[in-house]
Order: sequence, then C-alpha cells, then structure tokens
Amino acid sequence: MKAEDVKLFGVIGAGQMGHGIALVAAVSGLNVVLNDIKMEFAERGFQSISQILSKNVDKGKMTQEEKDAALERIKLSANLRDFHSVDFVVEAATENQEIKFQIFRDLDEICPAHAILATNTSSIPIGRIAAQTKRPDKVIGMHFMNPVPVMKLVEVIRALTTSDETFQVTWDLAIKFGKTPAEANDYPGFIANRILMPMINEAIYCLYEGVGSRESIDTVMRLGMNHPMGPLALADLIGLDTCLAIMETLYEGFKDSKYRPCPLLRKYVEAGWLGRKTGKGFYEYK
Ligand code: CAA
Repeated sequence: MKAEDVKLFGVIGAGQMGHGIALVAAVSGLNVVLNDIKMEFAERGFQSISQILSKNVDKGKMTQEEKDAALERIKLSANLRDFHSVDFVVEAATENQEIKFQIFRDLDEICPAHAILATNTSSIPIGRIAAQTKRPDKVIGMHFMNPVPVMKLVEVIRALTTSDETFQVTWDLAIKFGKTPAEANDYPGFIANRILMPMINEAIYCLYEGVGSRESIDTVMRLGMNHPMGPLALADLIGLDTCLAIMETLYEGFKDSKYRPCPLLRKYVEAGWLGRKTGKGFYEYK
C-alpha cells in the first residue's frame, strides 16, 4: 500500500487530539470516520472542527466551499464496526494502556487485512500495543502535537515489528496533511515527551518548592527562552492527567528517579484540576 491508496481514514476519539486529526485529514481530501464511545462526543468533536474551519474562512485561509466539502467528508460513529472498510486508523483515545489494548484488539478483528493501525499515544510503547494484534507489522506510532491544526510536527514511531511499508505510508500521510514528520524509536516518551515532560515536571517542582510563582516560572521560559507558552500554561493546555500519565510511563519505563512525577502534579490531578478542559489547572479558564 502507498499513502495515495489511503481513501478512508478512521479516527478513534473525538477529543482535543482526535478532532484535530480528523480535521487535517478531511482538509487534505480524505474521507474520515470519526468515532467516540458516545455519539454526543463525536458530535461535539465535529462542532469544534466546524468552528475552527469557520474561523479559517473568516480569515480568508479557505473558502466556504472548501469548508463545506471538508465537513461533508467526515462521518460520525459510535460503533467500531463502522471501521470495516478503513485503510488507515489513528487511535487518539484516552492515555490508558488497557483501553488502548482493547481498541487495538477490536480494530484488528474489524478492519481489513491491509489497514494500518496507528496510535497517537504520547508515551505508551508501540511494541506493546502492536503485540495485541495479529498484524504487528502494520502498527505504528503517529504522534500529533496539540493544537493539531497549528502544530507542524508529527512524530512517527517505529516499533521493532513495524514494516518499512507501514513506516513509509505513515510518513507520506503526515506530509499530505501539511505536517513535517520526524522519526523516533520506541523508547518511553519517544523524543517529544522524553524532553518536554521532564521540563514541565521541573517547572511544577519550582512552583511546589516555592522557587517562583506560576507567573514568574512561565515568564522566565517565555521571555528567557522564547518558548511560545510557559511550561505551566502548556501543561494546562496538554491536560495535567496526560502530563502525569506520561511522567508515570517515563518513571516506570526507565526506573530512574529523575522521572518521578512532582507530588503537586499528582495532587492537582486527584483534585480534578486537569487544566483547560476542566476550567482549572495552574491557571483558571472561563
Ligand atoms: N485549534 C486551532 N487553531 C488554533 C488553536 C486551536 N486549539 N489555538 C490557536 N490556534 C490558531 C489561532 O487561531 C491563530 O491562527 P492565525 O495565525 O490564523 O490567526 C494561531 O493558532 C495563533 O494563535 P493565537 O494568536 O491565539 O496565540 P499564539 O500565537 O500564542 O499561539 C499556540 C497559540 C499555537 C498554542 C502557541 O502558543 C504555541 O505554539 N504553544 C505551544 C504549543 C505546544 O508546545 N504544543 C505541543 C504540546 S505537547 C503535545 O501536544 C504532545 C504530547 O504528547 C503531550
């Protein structure tokens, strides 16, 4: 299979990553099935896509016709059986190993034999997910960055079992979506989160130990290092539950204390302060 043979593209999870992935795929001309566990979640994701595309029309970045055509290419689903004829799937469900394992076992049964099964996991080993299926050569990591419509990078992660063909199709699809792919091997956190998340965790330690206020910490990194957002604001954007899950994966994967999650991060997650999505994290959101 080649990237141009991918006609029907499945996305699992219509949350902040999943709906962004569905958007870039539909805008690139692919037909998309956007699935979530409940139809109302899929519909909410579709509304977000529609709002983002409307803004692009207002800014003159696309025409109303292009927006309508992209939306028409997206079908919503609350049943994985709707994936019976997909060519390529990206799973962007919640960052929970057991949930992802079950999804891949189900996809392996439902999807055509030629279909590639990619995961947008931010840190769970791809090889472990691939081992849930009878097609480990067709399982790969395709890791988009948040917010997906804006961020240029797609990290493409090979498991030991991933075939060169699967890698090439995924790489070429990322380019078709207007992104720049970068290759990583299958070690905890891959490249992006191996580097980013310890920095965010250290920023949380600075807050926890009173080295600086949330504003000081973020200002230092924004103005001192030219980061577009401070690490605490970025943690709120990513989701503090996701940040904690990634730190746990790094800690468990390397058994190295340098990856221990900051106790303050754990406390916030336990309190349900997950960042932007719950209206409160290190900052408050309306
Ligand atoms: N969806 C779609 N478009 C969005 C958006 C969203 N959620 N958020 C912002 N945009 C668009 C805006 O509409 C705007 O578009 P125009 O240029 O056409 O006007 C553009 O992005 C810039 O937005 P703003 O002017 O509002 O704000 P900004 O200049 O501060 O940019 C930002 C916002 C792009 C989020 C920028 O702050 C940034 O790059 N932040 C860092 C993001 C980052 O590091 N992401 C990676 C997170 S790690 C990850 O995702 C992986 C993981 O596994 C955890």
